[in-house]
Amino acid sequence: MEGRFAGRVVIVTGGASGIGAATARAFAAEGARVVIADVDRERGREVAGATAGVFEAVDVGDGAAVRALVEQTVAAFRRVDVLVSTPSRPAAARSSASPSTPGRARSR
Ligand SMILES: NC(=O)c1ccc[n+]([C@@H]2O[C@H](COP(=O)([O-])OP(=O)(O)OC[C@H]3O[C@@H](n4cnc5c(N)ncnc54)[C@H](O)[C@@H]3O)[C@@H](O)[C@H]2O)c1
Repeated sequence: MEGRFAGRVVIVTGGASGIGAATARAFAAEGARVVIADVDRERGREVAGATAGVFEAVDVGDGAAVRALVEQTVAAFRRVDVLVSTPSRPAAARSSASPSTPGRARSR
């Protein structure tokens, strides 16, 4: 595959939607192999399918799961060139946050 990132391996956490999904698509368009890591399995698999990438169900608040993600990626592709991490909070914090929690004010 041609492109500025041909042969590169890019992990995008939060890659199932929003900025992460757009980032994954942009890297894939430049030839990168993208690994989509997200708590949203359905959308994550969609983005992985659209980018010829790989989906991994990972909560970035779970350190062991993130370590496993990196180790699995290295085992599969022998490298990680770029890591883009977009989620701002662990999934548990998101679901239990009160409306007054900072960052919830601009919920969409
Ligand atoms: N969109 C904006 O205008 C904007 C502006 C400033 C900052 N940001 C920040 O950029 C980041 C991404 O924003 P977005 O608009 O793309 O958000 P989004 O909600 O569209 O996408 C976030 C993605 O992260 C995933 N995610 C959430 N928590 C996760 C977790 N713990 N582990 C793994 N995946 C998780 C979600 O499932 C989702 O796919 C956020 O941190 C946001 O606060 C966004």
